[in-house]
Amino acid sequence: METFRLSNGYEIPVIGYGTYPQKESLPRNLVNAYRAGYRLFDTSDNYDNEAYLGEGLTEIDRNDCVVITKYSRSMGEVHFADAFKNSRDKLKSNPDIYLLHWPYPFLWKYHWRQMEKLYLAGEVKAIGVCNFEVDKLEALLRFCKVPPVIDQIERHPLFQQKDIVEYCDSHDIRVMSYSPVARGNKELMESPVLKEIAGKYNKSIGQIILRWDIDTGTIPIPGASGEDHIRDNIDIFDFELTDEELGRISELDSGVRIRFAPKTRFTLKQKIQFLIKRLILILIG
Ligand SMILES: NC(=O)c1ccc[n+]([C@@H]2O[C@H](COP(=O)([O-])OP(=O)(O)OC[C@H]3O[C@@H](n4cnc5c(N)ncnc54)[C@H](OP(=O)(O)O)[C@@H]3O)[C@@H](O)[C@H]2O)c1
Repeated sequence: METFRLSNGYEIPVIGYGTYPQKESLPRNLVNAYRAGYRLFDTSDNYDNEAYLGEGLTEIDRNDCVVITKYSRSMGEVHFADAFKNSRDKLKSNPDIYLLHWPYPFLWKYHWRQMEKLYLAGEVKAIGVCNFEVDKLEALLRFCKVPPVIDQIERHPLFQQKDIVEYCDSHDIRVMSYSPVARGNKELMESPVLKEIAGKYNKSIGQIILRWDIDTGTIPIPGASGEDHIRDNIDIFDFELTDEELGRISELDSGVRIRFAPKTRFTLKQKIQFLIKRLILILIG
């Protein structure tokens, strides 16, 4: 499997397998994914499937895999250290990469300090964030002692987030693309441009999109429960897109977001809860 080197030197596969929203079916699909060639697996504490992933990992060579999980438990209600231990217990081993799932208002700096402690204690091989836009990344880079090596964001041809990708490229942060096939969005899957390029390479539109991710330096983590999708999504290493094709795909960016926008992710009530939690954390030191 080809790899990208993260800014701290850790090498990870150029494509991963997203596990949301699978539960009981996950151990079986994980084994299929491993057999198909995937070595990078993405979950989160709030997908409620870490235990299923842990079960599947006992069926394959765990040491040959990179496992990502995230801190997000009930929007930050569970204490950070407990959340990490819970994830580790369910996964039956330490995750290799730990990501902060959202820049939780009033709390994300506190969370990042806890992530740094885990990394410096050798509990994980890399730490990063998700859903951080440029303003938050700037603030994080000013604040951090250990910089994030990954920003996992929604990214597909209809929603390319070029400003974040450019910022990450120039600050040595690897972009990881979630919802890379936009959950099968019709507009995307019927794009004439993608159809034409797919025809040229005798590939599917999904395969062209995932190749575009890798050719533009980002790591896609498609979710797939169907055996065909599991197999096809990783069968993308026998061709590369030309600069002209990358340019045409770049023009498909139309701002169609399918997941939450970070700026409007949290309600006023949640923000107040986060603020109260932050004040309590300050009071108890
Ligand atoms: N950090 C975050 O905030 C965040 C947010 C969302 C997701 N994620 C992560 O990113 C992963 C992927 O994102 P996602 O599940 O939202 O979206 P996705 O990967 O774009 O879409 C998955 C859906 O698309 C279908 N699909 C898979 N491959 C396909 C292909 N080649 N052609 C057409 N359809 C295809 C799958 O069908 P079948 O299941 O039938 O195969 C599934 O219904 C998640 O599993 C999760 O690990 C992270």
